[in-house]
Amino acid sequence: MADQPTAFLPVFEDPADTDTFRLRVERYGPDLLDGLRRVYGERVTELHERVLGIMGAGFAARPHDLRLLDEARLLHPDWLQEPGMVGYVAYADRFAGTLAGVGERLDHLTRLGVTYLHLMPLLKPREGENDGGYAVADFRAVRPDLGTMDDLEALAGHLRERGISLVMDLVLNHVAAEHEWALRARAGDPRYRAYFHVFGDREQPDAFERTLPEVFPDFAPGNFTWVEELGGWVWTTFNSYQWDLDWSNPDVFCEFLDIILHLANRGVEVLRLDAIAFLWKRLGTDCQNQPEVHHLTRALRAAVRVVAPAVAFKAEAIVGPTDLATYLGTGVNHGKVSDMAYHNSLMVQLWSALASRDTRLTEVALSRIPAKPATTTWGTYVRCHDDIGWAIGDDDARRALLDGHAHRVFLSDFYAGHFPGSFARGLVFQHNPATNDRRISGTCASLAGLEVALEAGRGDAVDLAIRRIMLLHTAIMGFGGVPLLYMGDELGLLNDRSFADDPDHARDNRWVHRPRMDWGLAAAATSEGDGGSDDVVTHAWAARRVFAGLRHVVEVRAATPHLHARTESRVLSSPDARLLILKRDHPLGAMVQVYNVSEDWVELSCGILRGHVGVVVDERLSGFEYSLAPPTLTVEPYGALWLTVR
Ligand code: GLC
Repeated sequence: MADQPTAFLPVFEDPADTDTFRLRVERYGPDLLDGLRRVYGERVTELHERVLGIMGAGFAARPHDLRLLDEARLLHPDWLQEPGMVGYVAYADRFAGTLAGVGERLDHLTRLGVTYLHLMPLLKPREGENDGGYAVADFRAVRPDLGTMDDLEALAGHLRERGISLVMDLVLNHVAAEHEWALRARAGDPRYRAYFHVFGDREQPDAFERTLPEVFPDFAPGNFTWVEELGGWVWTTFNSYQWDLDWSNPDVFCEFLDIILHLANRGVEVLRLDAIAFLWKRLGTDCQNQPEVHHLTRALRAAVRVVAPAVAFKAEAIVGPTDLATYLGTGVNHGKVSDMAYHNSLMVQLWSALASRDTRLTEVALSRIPAKPATTTWGTYVRCHDDIGWAIGDDDARRALLDGHAHRVFLSDFYAGHFPGSFARGLVFQHNPATNDRRISGTCASLAGLEVALEAGRGDAVDLAIRRIMLLHTAIMGFGGVPLLYMGDELGLLNDRSFADDPDHARDNRWVHRPRMDWGLAAAATSEGDGGSDDVVTHAWAARRVFAGLRHVVEVRAATPHLHARTESRVLSSPDARLLILKRDHPLGAMVQVYNVSEDWVELSCGILRGHVGVVVDERLSGFEYSLAPPTLTVEPYGALWLTVR
């Protein structure tokens, strides 16, 4: 029976619903079944029936307006890939106090052209330290100081009216040690103990530790935590209060499917699959990127496509390029897992190029990223709420004639502000003495030089910092994918050192780059009319330039069909190490982008460009027509060109 994807089909009151559900199961059922079978083997028959039951209940509960959205999205399957998509990422409280407060600040987002709002973890976390909300105590309740589930639903509705999709985290690798499942496990309930990886002695944990890295070596060394009430060691990849779930238990799959549908029916349109790489454990490996992760995602996605096809998945997998491709799907999972994945490598490479004024490593690294399925997209970003880890492959470095270790040391020194001549002001996060790894915290503006420049009161340095901020953002907007702007970066917000006074944040300096929104500065930066003083050494002046600059690039981008994510950016070999050159082969004609990662005026031979885009081209960012007939053109300091065929 279970071999029939349509076995155990639910029947709904309205026969049209029964038909819709059946048609979708005919389409996606095989993926659901195959994904489940690859993970759960023989248990699939019983499980399939349960899963269809959960799907049926979710479908019956799906509100009318969201069903309309489902139909619209089925007619518009590439909605996430379009060049008009612009993401914004914020903690609700830091942005606007509460969920209702967020609803009152939507004009700011609309002004910026935002169509996708990722509100950082807002479900009820544990009390006290909670890893920025990533230690969830209840997936069906909102953090009380932010509002209620009804507020969330109302906000989702307001956003939808403005064409903004609500994005939320789905933390599916772990729960807070205070989540009901953990409490029941602690109380001795065997059903819930089986939701976690619990070991009575050190034998297994020690065996696993031999090949496991540490995510937070500073404040959470090791991957297991002794819990007295369990009489055992529980798997805790992240902090000791975040218990990893055992996804080999089908009950865990069913719980999460139900949670996903619950959130989807409240209006969440994109789920960010947090720490997805860690879901499956296998002895002798680093317990990341295991094939089962993708089969599980395929099964979850197939079930969601049936009930709520408006919903998309985004993988948060901060992993090497070859592994990254598997999150958008390779082999049997091609194009059937996440619809979107973070392009961590692009982010790291942009910072690396800025520090070294050299794009050769960037060329190597980007050209080695496998092509993604045509239906998927990247999430491109300059920075996020996490630290920057220098994910630079030794092999890539070698090909760029660099020593990987030495380059990573250089980048940490540079962005911590320790390297002579560095413009950056970052903090070292999680120094691992064993590997000498030093990750970096800091806002985009502080890392790009604005903090140092403002402090020195130097207009020329402020100008260069703004140009760096713009270059980074123009590159993520030109690369293809959904650019994810991190709250405050549109105003050049600086590091916020007040986290050190908050006992729940003091140990985690990632809070330095999660500042509170400065609405005064926002008003100064966005007020039209009087441009204010020409005094380039004020923050307000810098904020105004950054905001206006970003808004402009967003507008140009939306009007440039070449930036649809179906087309890939490819790296062209650049004759000058200070220039990164990308090409997109679009049916409308080629697009070539040039980015200068240095403070120099750089001459580029037009002959190189002519072969790709012809002699007369549109430069989209300036809106001017360019002639590539002369022998060279000059790219200004940190300048960018978006050239398209006439
Ligand atoms: C993700 C989040 C990070 C968090 C971790 C554990 O990587 O981005 O902030 O610490 O997951 O949930």
